[in-house]
Amino acid sequence: MIAAQELEMRIGARVLLHPTSFHVNAGDRIGLVGRNGAGKTTLTRILAGEGLPSAGKAVQKGSIGYLPQDPRTGDLEQLAVDRILAVRDLAGLAGKMRAAEEAMAGDDEAARDKAMDRYPRLEERFRAAGGYAAESEAHRIAANLGLDERVLGQPLGTLSGGQRRRVELARILFSDAEILLLDEPTNHLDADSISWLRGFLAAFSGGLIVISHDVDLIRTVVNKVFHLDANRGVIDQYSMGWDLYLKQREADERRRHRERANAEKKAEVLMTQANKMRASATKAVAAQQMIKRAERMLAETEGQRQSDRVAALRFPTPAPCGKTPLTASGLSKNYGSLEVFTDVDLAIDRGSKVVVLGLNGAGKTTLLRLLSGVEDADTGTVDAGHGMKLGYYAQEHDTLDLDATVQENMRHAAPDLDDSGVRGVLGSFLFSGDDADKPARVLSGGEKTRLALATLVVSQANVLLLDEPTNNLDPASRAEILSALHSYEGAVVLVTHDEGAVDALEPERVLLLPDAVEDLYNQSYRDLIALA
Ligand SMILES: Nc1ncnc2c1ncn2[C@@H]1O[C@H](COP(=O)(O)OP(=O)(O)OP(=O)(O)O)[C@@H](O)[C@H]1O
Ligand SMILES: [Mg+2]
Repeated sequence: MIAAQELEMRIGARVLLHPTSFHVNAGDRIGLVGRNGAGKTTLTRILAGEGLPSAGKAVQKGSIGYLPQDPRTGDLEQLAVDRILAVRDLAGLAGKMRAAEEAMAGDDEAARDKAMDRYPRLEERFRAAGGYAAESEAHRIAANLGLDERVLGQPLGTLSGGQRRRVELARILFSDAEILLLDEPTNHLDADSISWLRGFLAAFSGGLIVISHDVDLIRTVVNKVFHLDANRGVIDQYSMGWDLYLKQREADERRRHRERANAEKKAEVLMTQANKMRASATKAVAAQQMIKRAERMLAETEGQRQSDRVAALRFPTPAPCGKTPLTASGLSKNYGSLEVFTDVDLAIDRGSKVVVLGLNGAGKTTLLRLLSGVEDADTGTVDAGHGMKLGYYAQEHDTLDLDATVQENMRHAAPDLDDSGVRGVLGSFLFSGDDADKPARVLSGGEKTRLALATLVVSQANVLLLDEPTNNLDPASRAEILSALHSYEGAVVLVTHDEGAVDALEPERVLLLPDAVEDLYNQSYRDLIALA
């Protein structure tokens, strides 16, 4: 159980959350929603005991499994499978059992007696923790999350960001924690894994808070919705599933509107009457009272709620370039003995739109990394055509310098842009004056995405390589990005699980990995997107 007591969150002068109390009990499956930067991640960190509120407290009882939005923890030398197993302390127990076995076989009589005493208790604990069956359970969970045996045998340091995240998720689901706090668990998962996770969470009997931009997941899993309203700094708590919540919110909105309109009408009548009466000496006091009453009436009904601001985005006209700005021929890539793909040929024409499809691990991210030049191919070449300017959006925001400020990141992307130019672009991506001096590290997930996209925009790129650009975005920002993508004139190579993103792009071609077969895009490929 977690109890939040008069919890308050502030960042500098900004209040993210006014003092708020609530409980998370077994059986509560709470969807935590709110726009990018509202404070969802900050709140879950506090509930997990990894951050401190500015006032009030969060009290935890029982074990908690917390998946951060951006996990970078763990010993890089550790094998992935050990990272998962260690969460139930099985490794520790097995070690103690071995020591007891040795002592039982030893010469020291006192030690022997002690060990014989201890051994059954250790074995009992080992069994209770799932014992020998646990290891196979861990492997099953990992497999369902798209981690195969080969990946499990690798040290964490050699895994991609997406794989690291899946290892962390597997670890938490394996942990048997009573409360799960999951921050965007579907990022980096393929459709099969997401649907398995949905089933797992829907059947989970402990307490759960999940933050997700995946509406299907929220809809099937949650029985409560907490809406963190960034404009008011409060949590609207609804004890109902997603669809009912949407209806209820709309009804609440209409009711507030009605109440407001009513109050305004009545207040107006009172004011008109009062103004007429004011002239008369005998009625002046009554008129004053009427005015006061009108004012009170207005003050008591809540005004129009501010709706969330959205960036009005347009990708600028790309710099001119030749007919085929980017070609690649004979690309191959291996990691150790694993062959990711072999002999990929590719030509990206000016303004062309290509979507890359392929199962998890088929090398989509790797291909974009090779094309962008951040990684070298084992064989083959990537050739820039005349006038090519590349814009690369990496899945893990790898292209951002986390220690540099928002403003410095922009300057780095567009050295020629002057101060007011930088401020202009930042403003249109919803970064205010104060935000410009924040180090990129403290930005929320969605804010990092916005900044990374803003750095692409200023560079006047004519070839965009986009790796899952809609992850982490709230629905309003996602719609903006997609409409900007829709009207963008340059070439785009897109990797995504988001069907809406592909619809917005209207690609002419698909590239199917790992075989690198090219085909004209048609509707039958649409069904592959989420599966891929
Ligand atoms: N140390 C800090 N200094 C300044 N601002 C910070 C700091 N830490 C967090 N913030 C700001 O606090 C706000 C809340 O961030 P948080 O990560 O909790 O949002 P979120 O709701 O999880 O958003 P998203 O949906 O994008 O993940 C953001 O505007 C972020 O920039
Ligand atoms: Mg977040």
